[in-house]
Amino acid sequence: MPRNTTCNIVILISGSGSNLQAFIDATAQGDLPANIAAVISNRPSAKGLDRAREAGIPAAALDHKSFDSREAFDSALRELIDGYEPDLVILAGFMRILGADFVRHFRGRMLNIHPSLLPKYPGLNTHQRAIDAGDSEAGATVHFVTEELDGGPPVIHARVPVEPGDTAELLAARVLEKEHRIYPLAAQWFAQGRLILNGNRAEFDGKALPASGYSFSGADL
Ligand code: GRF
Repeated sequence: MPRNTTCNIVILISGSGSNLQAFIDATAQGDLPANIAAVISNRPSAKGLDRAREAGIPAAALDHKSFDSREAFDSALRELIDGYEPDLVILAGFMRILGADFVRHFRGRMLNIHPSLLPKYPGLNTHQRAIDAGDSEAGATVHFVTEELDGGPPVIHARVPVEPGDTAELLAARVLEKEHRIYPLAAQWFAQGRLILNGNRAEFDGKALPASGYSFSGADL
């Protein structure tokens, strides 16, 4: 991503879109030097589509159920995204597994956020799994997307305590607050040309990031 051009972002969602909202707010406040070119959901009823429309951002639904195969959906989605010529694709609660060809096409310019301290708990039900394991802390991780599910190089993570008596819902809400801070920050770094994927490692200002990504302290913005 060259430093002196505006970063064009396409955001993929499936649901509420609270992370999308954090991106909308960060661009409106000038914290994120980027243009959200479009928001695309695989679920036509996703609340996040309304958030996009309210912010004046083009919003489209591409219903995976109307495709015969994963490959057909992936290729229609790829074509739709490419039409916006994004520098960066953001998966923000996008609940579809994307095929290897799709992932390779966007390699180095697609980020995901996962609600756990990766490499712990890839996949679903992360909060309940952390509680069941008796973990004292949980969190979220932003990572580059590679062919391995939730397995690409981490960029940044934030930790929260697991409190006595926590339910998955309470813990999820605590983690989500952090998600809203670290995800736009990672995108800001990318837009500034400071964050790149070099081979299979994430680099920030020309140096390899730690294996678990930068550790967010809260004083980073
Ligand atoms: C977040 O917890 C995110 O980490 C996960 O899905 C959730 C999406 O929430 N991948 P929202 O739609 O951004 O509110």
